[in-house]
Amino acid sequence: MNKPTNVIWHHSTVSRTMRETSNEHKSVLLWFTGLSGSGKSTLAHAVENRLYQLGRQTFVLDGDNVRHGLCADLGFSAQDRVENVRRVAEVAKLFLESGVITLAAFISPFAADRARARSIFPHGDFLEIYCRCSLAICEERDVKGLYKLARAGELKHFTGVSSPYEEPSVPELVVDTGRMQLAESIDAVIALLRARGMIPNKSIDR
Ligand code: ADX
Repeated sequence: MNKPTNVIWHHSTVSRTMRETSNEHKSVLLWFTGLSGSGKSTLAHAVENRLYQLGRQTFVLDGDNVRHGLCADLGFSAQDRVENVRRVAEVAKLFLESGVITLAAFISPFAADRARARSIFPHGDFLEIYCRCSLAICEERDVKGLYKLARAGELKHFTGVSSPYEEPSVPELVVDTGRMQLAESIDAVIALLRARGMIPNKSIDR
């Protein structure tokens, strides 16, 4: 990516820290990765709902939704996925500046792309959450009917079938979405946020 020339960064008068102070919590990026059908979006939206009930500022960036607009020009070739993840990471960076707890749910199958996304954030701002669910279970669920199409050869570059998924080696959290109940998975993510000091302790929940 070329660096812009003759473009000078304008510093905000209202800083991220000021926004975090008003919100009474830190902003952070929760990056959910996993196979299609592993429950990333379900978990991200459920965690958002729990945080909303706790009075926290949140926003979900969801793969399928972002591909309707910002990334509507991208497909599923390796090159397009690289660009998809790059754009989303940049958007998430802006959301963090706005003081919001951001939840990104993307297959993001390539470890190098996730590492690149992580690299644009200060240490501790990017928390990778691996939604671990076997291909067999995802395929059995086949909520969107896409695995069936992929197996029939009607969908190219489908993750897990005709395109690889590289498991995270050291994610901040692994959630076994294949066997855990949703409520248990939500608790695990909320516990991570509390342990990292991103949201206050239970005793001072709003
Ligand atoms: S990513 O690989 O670039 O991170 P992203 O999360 O944005 O993918 O989009 C994945 C969603 O697109 C899936 O949940 C599925 O609904 C849909 N999809 C359509 N075609 C494919 C494909 N070839 N591979 C994976 N997902 C696909």
